[in-house]
Amino acid sequence: MVQPPERLSIFATCRLPEEVKGDLRQMCDIVFADDIAPNQPARALLPGREEPIVMISVQEPLDAATIASLPAGVRAIATYSAGHEHLDLAAARARDIAVFSLPDALSEAVAEVGMFLLLGAAHRATESIDLIRSRAWPGWSATQLNGVEIFRKHLGILGMGRIGRVLAQRARGFDMTIHYSNRRRLAPELEVGAQFHADPKDMFGKIDALVLLAPSSPETRGFLNAERIGWLKRGAIVVNIARGNLIVDDDLIAALRGGHLFAAGLDVFNGEPNLDPRYFDLPNVFILPHIGSSTIETRRRMAAALIEQLRTWIAGGTPSSRLV
Ligand code: DGY
Repeated sequence: MVQPPERLSIFATCRLPEEVKGDLRQMCDIVFADDIAPNQPARALLPGREEPIVMISVQEPLDAATIASLPAGVRAIATYSAGHEHLDLAAARARDIAVFSLPDALSEAVAEVGMFLLLGAAHRATESIDLIRSRAWPGWSATQLNGVEIFRKHLGILGMGRIGRVLAQRARGFDMTIHYSNRRRLAPELEVGAQFHADPKDMFGKIDALVLLAPSSPETRGFLNAERIGWLKRGAIVVNIARGNLIVDDDLIAALRGGHLFAAGLDVFNGEPNLDPRYFDLPNVFILPHIGSSTIETRRRMAAALIEQLRTWIAGGTPSSRLV
């Protein structure tokens, strides 16, 4: 690891677990907005700060106007997230502010939650939990809540970055055949036998379950619409661990109600936290409140990775996660 020529000085607007705050205090000079003004919106404190680095999360979107009004001494923004759609990169570039995110540190946790959603959707987790918690379970029956297996099925991954590759590795443990669609084909050592489809339509017709992992962008917003859902086999499962806006809710809900899809597992939603309320009443949807990266191991790994990126940058290097 490159050693910093100076100790990093950071103002953090994001709320973090105490363990992670403790880790960060060991690694750098850091002030947490919620320590000095717990009841005030963190961004209100920004104008008076002198630290050259601001650490944020997806909860504090930095639009062009906010970036333009950051104190003159701000030299870098580090987002404690893989996604960066909450940041106006052009505005940061215009002010010559470096921007860093965390594309790699969350992969294990998010891939695990992807498998959890896939298994929960396949095994009818929502209905099973509702039944047993109703205190009216009539007891075992061979006809009760028959799900489907993922064993030896075909899994399609849209957006095969590092999370997708970890997910594929986990899914191979279930003897699944892996397909993926990306803008570019991966090198053979990263593909590990997964079948590449340049056109997602080719992949959709071959798979039993689709996992969305593409970043949110103008090209991917609204990607999973009625037409593309129609490319999937009847009885397929859809999992979303990327961003809610990859899905057209009306179209997914129609396919789940109409039976074209067996089930869906969703961790992310349009308009979070105000998701489409129809999801609450669909028995074949297994929903989670955006917990993909929420393990204590990953939260600590994210902090360490962000500090390492910043140290590399301060030492004159080019960290892999630098966005601007
Ligand atoms: C991420 O880091 O992008 C997580 O999904 C939280 O937004």
